[in-house]
Amino acid sequence: MEILKRGFQLLVSIHSKLIHKYYQHIYRKRKLKTFLMGVGSLYLLRRLSQLAMALTPSIRRRNLIGRYGEESWAVITGGSDGIGKEFCIQLAKQKFNIALISRNAKKMDQICLELQNYGVQTKYIVADFNNGYTEDFYNQIYKQLEYLDISILVNNVGTGEAGQFEQQKMEDSFMMLRVNALSTLMMTRILINKLQNRNKKSAVITISSGLAYLPSPFVSVYSGTKAFTNYFTQSLALTSKNIDFLSVTPLGVSTAMINYKKGVNTIETKELVLNVINDLRQGKTHSFGCYKHKRIINHLLWRNQNYRNKIKIQMGIGLRNTHLSKIRQDEQQK
Ligand SMILES: NC(=O)c1ccc[n+]([C@@H]2O[C@H](COP(=O)([O-])OP(=O)(O)OC[C@H]3O[C@@H](n4cnc5c(N)ncnc54)[C@H](OP(=O)(O)O)[C@@H]3O)[C@@H](O)[C@H]2O)c1
Repeated sequence: MEILKRGFQLLVSIHSKLIHKYYQHIYRKRKLKTFLMGVGSLYLLRRLSQLAMALTPSIRRRNLIGRYGEESWAVITGGSDGIGKEFCIQLAKQKFNIALISRNAKKMDQICLELQNYGVQTKYIVADFNNGYTEDFYNQIYKQLEYLDISILVNNVGTGEAGQFEQQKMEDSFMMLRVNALSTLMMTRILINKLQNRNKKSAVITISSGLAYLPSPFVSVYSGTKAFTNYFTQSLALTSKNIDFLSVTPLGVSTAMINYKKGVNTIETKELVLNVINDLRQGKTHSFGCYKHKRIINHLLWRNQNYRNKIKIQMGIGLRNTHLSKIRQDEQQK
Protein backbone atom coordinates (compact mmCIF):
# COMPACT_ATOMS: atom_id res chain seq x y z
CA MET A 1 0.00 0.00 0.00
CA GLU A 2 2.90 2.34 0.91
CA ILE A 3 4.51 1.67 -2.50
CA LEU A 4 1.20 2.41 -4.26
CA LYS A 5 0.84 5.67 -2.33
CA ARG A 6 4.40 6.73 -3.26
CA GLY A 7 3.73 5.79 -6.91
CA PHE A 8 0.58 7.89 -6.82
CA GLN A 9 2.44 10.88 -5.35
CA LEU A 10 5.20 10.53 -7.97
CA LEU A 11 2.64 10.47 -10.80
CA VAL A 12 0.95 13.57 -9.38
CA SER A 13 4.24 15.50 -9.26
CA ILE A 14 5.21 14.43 -12.83
CA HIS A 15 1.76 15.45 -13.99
CA SER A 16 1.96 18.91 -12.44
CA LYS A 17 5.45 19.45 -13.94
CA LEU A 18 4.09 18.46 -17.36
CA ILE A 19 1.18 20.89 -17.00
CA HIS A 20 3.62 23.63 -16.00
CA LYS A 21 5.83 22.95 -19.06
CA TYR A 22 2.74 22.72 -21.27
CA TYR A 23 1.78 26.29 -20.41
CA GLN A 24 5.39 27.46 -20.85
CA HIS A 25 5.38 25.97 -24.36
CA ILE A 26 1.99 27.44 -25.24
CA TYR A 27 3.44 30.77 -24.25
CA ARG A 28 6.48 30.19 -26.51
CA LYS A 29 4.26 28.81 -29.33
CA ARG A 30 6.29 25.58 -29.83
CA LYS A 31 3.53 23.63 -31.50
CA LEU A 32 4.86 20.03 -31.70
CA LYS A 33 6.30 20.03 -28.20
CA THR A 34 3.14 21.61 -26.90
CA PHE A 35 1.04 18.92 -28.55
CA LEU A 36 3.20 16.07 -27.15
CA MET A 37 3.12 17.60 -23.69
CA GLY A 38 -0.67 17.80 -23.89
CA VAL A 39 -0.95 14.13 -24.94
CA GLY A 40 1.49 13.04 -22.19
CA SER A 41 -0.37 15.02 -19.60
CA LEU A 42 -3.74 13.54 -20.63
CA TYR A 43 -2.25 10.01 -20.52
CA LEU A 44 -0.93 10.60 -17.02
CA LEU A 45 -4.25 12.05 -15.93
CA ARG A 46 -6.00 8.87 -17.11
CA ARG A 47 -3.52 6.64 -15.25
CA LEU A 48 -3.88 8.79 -12.13
CA SER A 49 -7.65 8.50 -12.12
CA GLN A 50 -7.40 4.70 -12.60
CA LEU A 51 -4.98 4.43 -9.69
CA ALA A 52 -7.14 6.66 -7.51
CA MET A 53 -10.20 4.55 -8.34
CA ALA A 54 -8.34 1.36 -7.38
CA LEU A 55 -6.91 2.86 -4.19
CA THR A 56 -9.79 4.84 -2.73
CA PRO A 57 -12.23 2.00 -1.96
CA SER A 58 -9.57 -0.31 -0.54
CA ILE A 59 -8.25 2.45 1.73
CA ARG A 60 -11.80 3.37 2.74
CA ARG A 61 -12.79 -0.25 3.26
CA ARG A 62 -9.54 -1.58 4.70
CA ASN A 63 -11.26 -2.21 7.97
CA LEU A 64 -14.18 -4.46 7.01
CA ILE A 65 -15.64 -4.59 10.51
CA GLY A 66 -15.54 -0.76 10.54
CA ARG A 67 -17.59 -0.60 7.34
CA TYR A 68 -20.11 -3.26 8.36
CA GLY A 69 -20.27 -2.57 12.11
CA GLU A 70 -18.48 -3.72 15.26
CA GLU A 71 -20.02 -6.74 17.00
CA SER A 72 -22.03 -7.59 13.90
CA TRP A 73 -22.63 -11.13 12.61
CA ALA A 74 -21.76 -12.98 9.40
CA VAL A 75 -24.11 -15.81 8.39
CA ILE A 76 -22.49 -18.52 6.28
CA THR A 77 -24.57 -21.27 4.68
CA GLY A 78 -22.66 -24.54 4.27
CA GLY A 79 -20.08 -23.19 6.71
CA SER A 80 -18.94 -26.54 8.09
CA ASP A 81 -16.53 -27.46 5.30
CA GLY A 82 -14.56 -26.29 2.25
CA ILE A 83 -15.05 -22.72 1.09
CA GLY A 84 -17.73 -21.96 3.70
CA LYS A 85 -15.48 -23.04 6.58
CA GLU A 86 -12.69 -20.81 5.23
CA PHE A 87 -15.12 -17.85 5.16
CA CYS A 88 -15.94 -18.58 8.82
CA ILE A 89 -12.23 -18.48 9.73
CA GLN A 90 -11.30 -15.40 7.69
CA LEU A 91 -14.33 -13.38 8.84
CA ALA A 92 -13.79 -14.42 12.49
CA LYS A 93 -10.19 -13.18 12.12
CA GLN A 94 -11.71 -9.82 11.09
CA LYS A 95 -13.79 -9.90 14.32
CA PHE A 96 -17.18 -10.75 12.85
CA ASN A 97 -19.33 -12.98 15.05
CA ILE A 98 -20.16 -16.11 13.09
CA ALA A 99 -23.42 -18.01 12.53
CA LEU A 100 -23.09 -21.07 10.34
CA ILE A 101 -25.77 -23.29 8.86
CA SER A 102 -25.37 -26.85 7.64
CA ARG A 103 -26.51 -30.40 8.41
CA ASN A 104 -23.87 -31.76 10.77
CA ALA A 105 -24.12 -30.44 14.37
CA LYS A 106 -20.95 -32.21 15.55
CA LYS A 107 -18.80 -30.65 12.82
CA MET A 108 -20.26 -27.18 13.46
CA ASP A 109 -19.79 -27.51 17.23
CA GLN A 110 -16.08 -28.22 16.67
CA ILE A 111 -15.70 -25.28 14.24
CA CYS A 112 -17.44 -22.92 16.69
CA LEU A 113 -14.91 -23.87 19.39
CA GLU A 114 -12.04 -23.13 16.97
CA LEU A 115 -13.58 -19.78 15.96
CA GLN A 116 -13.99 -18.68 19.59
CA ASN A 117 -10.17 -18.57 19.77
CA TYR A 118 -10.44 -15.39 17.66
CA GLY A 119 -12.48 -13.76 20.44
CA VAL A 120 -15.81 -13.81 18.60
CA GLN A 121 -19.26 -15.16 19.41
CA THR A 122 -20.56 -18.12 17.44
CA LYS A 123 -23.81 -19.86 16.74
CA TYR A 124 -24.86 -22.72 14.52
CA ILE A 125 -28.16 -23.80 13.02
CA VAL A 126 -28.78 -27.36 11.90
CA ALA A 127 -30.70 -27.33 8.61
CA ASP A 128 -30.77 -29.46 5.48
CA PHE A 129 -31.40 -27.09 2.56
CA ASN A 130 -32.62 -30.06 0.55
CA ASN A 131 -35.75 -29.85 2.70
CA GLY A 132 -36.10 -26.14 1.93
CA TYR A 133 -39.04 -26.12 -0.44
CA THR A 134 -41.50 -24.29 1.83
CA GLU A 135 -41.52 -20.73 3.10
CA ASP A 136 -41.93 -22.13 6.59
CA PHE A 137 -38.51 -23.85 6.38
CA TYR A 138 -36.88 -20.44 5.88
CA ASN A 139 -39.09 -18.74 8.48
CA GLN A 140 -37.75 -21.26 11.01
CA ILE A 141 -34.19 -20.24 10.10
CA TYR A 142 -35.11 -16.55 10.32
CA LYS A 143 -36.54 -17.00 13.83
CA GLN A 144 -33.11 -18.19 14.96
CA LEU A 145 -31.35 -15.23 13.34
CA GLU A 146 -33.71 -12.29 13.84
CA TYR A 147 -32.27 -11.14 17.17
CA LEU A 148 -28.70 -10.86 15.73
CA ASP A 149 -27.23 -7.74 14.08
CA ILE A 150 -26.39 -9.48 10.80
CA SER A 151 -24.12 -7.53 8.45
CA ILE A 152 -22.86 -10.22 6.04
CA LEU A 153 -24.66 -13.12 4.38
CA VAL A 154 -22.51 -15.65 2.51
CA ASN A 155 -24.70 -17.75 0.20
CA ASN A 156 -22.22 -20.58 -0.06
CA VAL A 157 -24.05 -23.88 0.35
CA GLY A 158 -23.96 -25.98 -2.78
CA THR A 159 -23.97 -29.51 -4.04
CA GLY A 160 -22.99 -30.99 -7.40
CA GLU A 161 -24.18 -34.21 -9.01
CA ALA A 162 -22.73 -35.08 -12.40
CA GLY A 163 -23.95 -37.43 -15.12
CA GLN A 164 -25.98 -37.74 -18.32
CA PHE A 165 -29.04 -35.55 -17.71
CA GLU A 166 -31.67 -38.09 -18.81
CA GLN A 167 -30.10 -40.75 -16.61
CA GLN A 168 -29.89 -38.57 -13.50
CA LYS A 169 -32.35 -39.25 -10.71
CA MET A 170 -35.06 -36.57 -10.60
CA GLU A 171 -34.40 -36.26 -6.86
CA ASP A 172 -30.77 -35.21 -7.59
CA SER A 173 -31.94 -32.47 -9.95
CA PHE A 174 -34.45 -31.20 -7.39
CA MET A 175 -31.74 -31.30 -4.73
CA MET A 176 -29.42 -29.05 -6.79
CA LEU A 177 -32.26 -26.62 -7.46
CA ARG A 178 -33.16 -26.45 -3.77
CA VAL A 179 -29.67 -26.47 -2.22
CA ASN A 180 -27.90 -24.25 -4.76
CA ALA A 181 -30.56 -21.94 -6.22
CA LEU A 182 -33.54 -21.79 -3.88
CA SER A 183 -31.33 -21.44 -0.77
CA THR A 184 -29.60 -18.37 -2.28
CA LEU A 185 -32.90 -16.79 -3.26
CA MET A 186 -34.63 -17.49 0.06
CA MET A 187 -31.74 -16.68 2.44
CA THR A 188 -31.36 -13.34 0.64
CA ARG A 189 -35.14 -12.80 0.77
CA ILE A 190 -35.52 -13.44 4.52
CA LEU A 191 -32.54 -11.26 5.44
CA ILE A 192 -32.70 -8.45 2.87
CA ASN A 193 -34.87 -6.05 4.91
CA LYS A 194 -32.75 -6.56 7.98
CA LEU A 195 -29.56 -5.94 5.97
CA GLN A 196 -30.99 -2.90 4.20
CA ASN A 197 -32.28 -1.14 7.30
CA ARG A 198 -29.06 -1.14 9.34
CA ASN A 199 -27.20 2.08 10.17
CA LYS A 200 -24.04 0.57 8.69
CA LYS A 201 -23.48 -1.04 5.29
CA SER A 202 -24.16 -4.75 4.80
CA ALA A 203 -22.96 -7.35 2.29
CA VAL A 204 -24.29 -10.40 0.45
CA ILE A 205 -21.65 -12.67 -1.08
CA THR A 206 -22.91 -15.46 -3.36
CA ILE A 207 -20.64 -18.34 -4.31
CA SER A 208 -21.75 -19.14 -7.84
CA SER A 209 -19.29 -20.87 -10.21
CA GLY A 210 -17.29 -20.31 -13.40
CA LEU A 211 -19.74 -22.80 -14.96
CA ALA A 212 -22.28 -19.96 -14.89
CA TYR A 213 -20.28 -18.61 -17.87
CA LEU A 214 -19.20 -22.00 -19.26
CA PRO A 215 -22.28 -24.24 -18.96
CA SER A 216 -21.07 -27.80 -19.54
CA PRO A 217 -22.65 -31.16 -20.33
CA PHE A 218 -22.86 -33.78 -17.52
CA VAL A 219 -23.17 -30.87 -15.08
CA SER A 220 -26.02 -29.14 -16.89
CA VAL A 221 -28.36 -28.80 -13.89
CA TYR A 222 -25.49 -27.61 -11.68
CA SER A 223 -24.41 -25.06 -14.36
CA GLY A 224 -28.02 -23.83 -14.61
CA THR A 225 -28.33 -23.29 -10.86
CA LYS A 226 -25.03 -21.39 -10.82
CA ALA A 227 -26.09 -19.16 -13.74
CA PHE A 228 -29.23 -18.36 -11.72
CA THR A 229 -27.34 -17.40 -8.54
CA ASN A 230 -24.82 -15.31 -10.51
CA TYR A 231 -27.48 -13.38 -12.45
CA PHE A 232 -29.69 -13.02 -9.37
CA THR A 233 -26.89 -11.51 -7.27
CA GLN A 234 -25.50 -9.26 -10.00
CA SER A 235 -28.96 -7.90 -10.82
CA LEU A 236 -29.62 -7.00 -7.18
CA ALA A 237 -26.23 -5.25 -7.06
CA LEU A 238 -27.26 -2.74 -9.73
CA THR A 239 -29.66 -0.67 -7.63
CA SER A 240 -28.65 -1.61 -4.10
CA LYS A 241 -27.68 1.34 -1.89
CA ASN A 242 -26.98 -0.10 1.53
CA ILE A 243 -25.93 -3.66 0.63
CA ASP A 244 -22.70 -4.58 -1.19
CA PHE A 245 -23.68 -7.53 -3.41
CA LEU A 246 -20.81 -9.66 -4.70
CA SER A 247 -21.16 -12.68 -6.99
CA VAL A 248 -18.18 -15.08 -7.08
CA THR A 249 -17.56 -17.35 -10.08
CA PRO A 250 -14.43 -19.46 -9.54
CA LEU A 251 -13.42 -22.64 -11.39
CA GLY A 252 -11.76 -25.53 -9.46
CA VAL A 253 -11.26 -25.07 -5.70
CA SER A 254 -9.67 -27.97 -3.85
CA THR A 255 -12.50 -29.18 -1.55
CA ALA A 256 -14.52 -32.36 -0.95
CA MET A 257 -16.83 -31.29 -3.81
CA ILE A 258 -14.10 -32.04 -6.38
CA ASN A 259 -12.51 -34.80 -4.30
CA TYR A 260 -9.71 -32.44 -3.11
CA LYS A 261 -8.32 -32.46 -6.66
CA LYS A 262 -5.19 -30.35 -7.07
CA GLY A 263 -3.67 -29.03 -10.28
CA VAL A 264 -2.38 -25.97 -12.06
CA ASN A 265 -5.88 -24.62 -12.57
CA THR A 266 -7.15 -25.43 -9.09
CA ILE A 267 -6.78 -23.13 -6.09
CA GLU A 268 -6.94 -23.57 -2.31
CA THR A 269 -9.88 -22.29 -0.26
CA LYS A 270 -7.72 -19.77 1.61
CA GLU A 271 -6.48 -18.10 -1.58
CA LEU A 272 -10.04 -17.90 -2.91
CA VAL A 273 -11.58 -16.45 0.25
CA LEU A 274 -8.82 -13.86 0.80
CA ASN A 275 -9.20 -12.71 -2.83
CA VAL A 276 -12.99 -12.49 -2.47
CA ILE A 277 -12.69 -10.44 0.72
CA ASN A 278 -10.26 -8.15 -1.07
CA ASP A 279 -12.67 -7.75 -3.99
CA LEU A 280 -15.42 -6.88 -1.51
CA ARG A 281 -13.11 -4.24 -0.01
CA GLN A 282 -12.61 -2.75 -3.47
CA GLY A 283 -16.36 -2.44 -3.98
CA LYS A 284 -16.59 -4.99 -6.81
CA THR A 285 -19.92 -6.66 -7.59
CA HIS A 286 -18.32 -9.62 -9.35
CA SER A 287 -15.25 -11.70 -8.58
CA PHE A 288 -13.65 -14.66 -10.38
CA GLY A 289 -11.98 -15.61 -7.10
CA CYS A 290 -8.47 -15.47 -8.57
CA TYR A 291 -6.66 -14.05 -11.56
CA LYS A 292 -5.97 -17.52 -13.00
CA HIS A 293 -9.68 -18.35 -13.27
CA LYS A 294 -10.51 -14.89 -14.60
CA ARG A 295 -7.92 -15.36 -17.36
CA ILE A 296 -9.21 -18.84 -18.32
CA ILE A 297 -12.88 -17.77 -18.42
CA ASN A 298 -12.23 -14.54 -20.33
CA HIS A 299 -9.95 -16.36 -22.78
CA LEU A 300 -12.63 -18.99 -23.51
CA LEU A 301 -15.41 -16.42 -23.84
CA TRP A 302 -13.29 -14.56 -26.36
CA ARG A 303 -12.48 -17.68 -28.48
CA ASN A 304 -14.80 -18.91 -31.24
CA GLN A 305 -17.81 -21.02 -30.34
CA ASN A 306 -16.53 -24.35 -31.73
CA TYR A 307 -13.35 -24.16 -29.70
CA ARG A 308 -15.24 -23.04 -26.59
CA ASN A 309 -17.76 -25.88 -26.93
CA LYS A 310 -14.95 -28.44 -27.26
CA ILE A 311 -13.39 -27.21 -24.01
CA LYS A 312 -16.77 -27.14 -22.23
CA ILE A 313 -17.39 -30.79 -23.22
CA GLN A 314 -13.90 -31.72 -21.92
CA MET A 315 -14.64 -29.86 -18.68
CA GLY A 316 -17.97 -31.69 -18.30
CA ILE A 317 -16.32 -35.08 -18.85
CA GLY A 318 -13.57 -34.18 -16.33
CA LEU A 319 -16.15 -33.16 -13.71
CA ARG A 320 -18.21 -36.32 -14.31
CA ASN A 321 -15.08 -38.50 -13.87
CA THR A 322 -14.13 -36.66 -10.66
CA HIS A 323 -17.67 -37.13 -9.38
CA LEU A 324 -17.66 -40.87 -10.21
CA SER A 325 -14.30 -41.42 -8.50
CA LYS A 326 -15.62 -39.58 -5.41
CA ILE A 327 -18.67 -41.87 -5.30
CA ARG A 328 -16.42 -44.97 -5.63
CA GLN A 329 -14.15 -43.69 -2.85
CA ASP A 330 -17.11 -42.95 -0.53
CA GLU A 331 -18.49 -46.47 -1.15
CA GLN A 332 -15.12 -48.07 -0.33
CA GLN A 333 -14.94 -46.11 2.93
CA LYS A 334 -18.40 -47.32 4.07
N1 LIG B 1 -15.07 -26.70 -5.05
C1 LIG B 1 -15.15 -26.16 -6.23
O1 LIG B 1 -14.39 -26.47 -7.16
C2 LIG B 1 -16.15 -25.06 -6.49
C3 LIG B 1 -16.00 -24.25 -7.63
C4 LIG B 1 -16.92 -23.26 -7.87
C5 LIG B 1 -17.96 -23.04 -7.01
N2 LIG B 1 -18.10 -23.84 -5.92
C6 LIG B 1 -19.24 -23.59 -5.02
O2 LIG B 1 -18.75 -23.25 -3.74
C7 LIG B 1 -19.70 -23.60 -2.74
C8 LIG B 1 -19.03 -24.40 -1.63
O3 LIG B 1 -18.52 -25.59 -2.18
P1 LIG B 1 -17.35 -26.43 -1.51
O4 LIG B 1 -16.45 -26.83 -2.62
O5 LIG B 1 -16.79 -25.73 -0.34
O6 LIG B 1 -18.17 -27.72 -1.06
P2 LIG B 1 -17.95 -28.72 0.18
O7 LIG B 1 -16.55 -28.73 0.60
O8 LIG B 1 -18.59 -29.98 -0.26
O9 LIG B 1 -18.82 -28.06 1.34
C9 LIG B 1 -20.19 -27.96 1.22
C10 LIG B 1 -20.76 -27.36 2.49
O10 LIG B 1 -22.16 -27.29 2.35
C11 LIG B 1 -22.80 -28.06 3.36
N3 LIG B 1 -23.96 -28.71 2.76
C12 LIG B 1 -23.99 -29.52 1.69
N4 LIG B 1 -25.24 -29.90 1.42
C13 LIG B 1 -26.01 -29.30 2.35
C14 LIG B 1 -27.42 -29.30 2.60
N5 LIG B 1 -28.27 -30.02 1.85
N6 LIG B 1 -27.90 -28.58 3.63
C15 LIG B 1 -27.07 -27.88 4.42
N7 LIG B 1 -25.73 -27.84 4.24
C16 LIG B 1 -25.22 -28.55 3.21
C17 LIG B 1 -21.75 -29.04 3.84
O11 LIG B 1 -21.92 -29.38 5.21
P3 LIG B 1 -22.58 -30.71 5.78
O12 LIG B 1 -22.22 -31.82 4.84
O13 LIG B 1 -21.99 -30.84 7.12
O14 LIG B 1 -24.04 -30.41 5.81
C18 LIG B 1 -20.49 -28.21 3.71
O15 LIG B 1 -20.37 -27.36 4.82
C19 LIG B 1 -20.80 -24.36 -3.48
O16 LIG B 1 -21.89 -23.51 -3.74
C20 LIG B 1 -20.15 -24.77 -4.78
O17 LIG B 1 -21.10 -24.95 -5.80
C21 LIG B 1 -17.22 -24.83 -5.61
